[in-house]
Amino acid sequence: MSSTLTQGAYIVAGLLFILALAGLSRHESARRGNRFGIAGMVVALTATVLAATAGTGGSGWLGLLLIVVAMGIGAAIGLDRARKVEMTGMPELIAMLHSFVGLAAVLVGWNSSYEITAYPTIHDVEVFVGVFIGAVTFTGSIVAFLKLSARIPSKPLMLPFRNWLNVGALVLFVVLTVVYAAVPEHAVFVRHLLLGFVTLLALALGWHLVASIGGGDMPVVVSMLNSYSGWAAAAAGFLLGNDLLIITGALVGSSGAYLSYIMCRAMNRSFISVIAGGFGVEGGTVAAGDVDYGEHREVTAEGAASLLTSARSVVITPGYGMATAQAQHAVAELTKRLRTSGVAVRFGIHPVAGRLPGHMNVLLAEAKVPYDIVLEMDEVNDDLAETDVVLVIGANDTVNPAAAEDPTSPIAGMPVLRVWEAKDVIVFKRSMATGYAGVQNPLFFRENTQMLFGDAKARVEDIIAAL
Ligand code: TAP
Repeated sequence: MSSTLTQGAYIVAGLLFILALAGLSRHESARRGNRFGIAGMVVALTATVLAATAGTGGSGWLGLLLIVVAMGIGAAIGLDRARKVEMTGMPELIAMLHSFVGLAAVLVGWNSSYEITAYPTIHDVEVFVGVFIGAVTFTGSIVAFLKLSARIPSKPLMLPFRNWLNVGALVLFVVLTVVYAAVPEHAVFVRHLLLGFVTLLALALGWHLVASIGGGDMPVVVSMLNSYSGWAAAAAGFLLGNDLLIITGALVGSSGAYLSYIMCRAMNRSFISVIAGGFGVEGGTVAAGDVDYGEHREVTAEGAASLLTSARSVVITPGYGMATAQAQHAVAELTKRLRTSGVAVRFGIHPVAGRLPGHMNVLLAEAKVPYDIVLEMDEVNDDLAETDVVLVIGANDTVNPAAAEDPTSPIAGMPVLRVWEAKDVIVFKRSMATGYAGVQNPLFFRENTQMLFGDAKARVEDIIAAL
């Protein structure tokens, strides 16, 4: 395949990726966006494989065969994992996949360090940056995977001077990059030693960076690692002289960074304070568990059903519990029933409800809930005071009044759905346990709140039966 043809194919693939991102930004066009992405990837892979194997004579066929076999094995594992993964297990799968991108960038960097190029200084800096970002992404993503899958506790690791450790590692990286670029090419041992050291430094930094972030800040970590994996891919693109990898990496890197910004805004946190870590601990604040909030009230499914039949307006605020219970289809059915009998039903979606960006939207779309009644937090918050009944289905942190009212709460300042302003609130959960951030929720003890205990799916089905 000629290089002009390859470049042409790369431009087409790059455009398809941009169209994919544009499509994915809205529910209605998400499927189309996905198709653009798939088409772009097919063009990109075909062009890359053909370009890599063309013009190398007989060995080209062997190369092609090896690539096809490797891709076949990868595709088989990928398809199997994608088919089996539960929606709730998605974040950890994504974290795991980010770690592969990081590892690939480290390997490409090391491999490229052996190359002789026309611009050795620029190349040396590229190698160092590629290996550094790749290694931070690799271990950071592994820790995120371990935390999200509850293999290690999600509470933050609080080493003394932890912020200084991070800053120190960054400064050391810059110094080592300058030294590496200054060391002559023939001093192979010294150069390997420097590269080896910076790899270990970055691996340790990635581990520490994510280990010291805890509780409710994990959504930002996932999108931050998404962004890092993009930059790692872009760095690998520079090293391999592959324009498409640079474009794709930059698209992933910048969209991940933007997503992190949206997440931070949704949680009213600055990006720096997320990186500085420590969120979700009780240090310096009133331990939520010690406060006596009084008694909670319970309701039966029949009681909830009669409240719903006499309501004019209902808002449903789903959370992580709806995902674990797989209650979305029952919720969609309940919505349909209520709407047919004249009740105005809408959904209020918190930006970090569930365990991954857009988690609730995906589940509701899967259950065919009409898009026009699925509203963002900001679109529905001011209407909650005029709402008759709010159904909190498996949500906890995202509806916690302490975030708005208690400045000593660990989640103080995080914007939440103000469900407590509604006339009646019914909370679906299995117990009085806390949510992801480990913070008690005073909503459960409010006078207008009633708890409907049990599995969310079973309870919603009970309500449908009672209706
Ligand atoms: P959470 O605060 O995590 O609370 C979920 C609640 O669902 C729990 O209190 C649990 O109570 C209940 N639940 C679990 N299984 C259930 C079942 N089968 N039936 C009924 N209830 C069930 O949920 P949220 O309000 O969605 O908040 C999300 C939290 O996750 C935030 O702190 C957010 O920062 C964090 N987070 C978000 C993301 C993204 S990107 N969205 C990623 C990582 C972390 P019981 O155990 O008593 O049933």
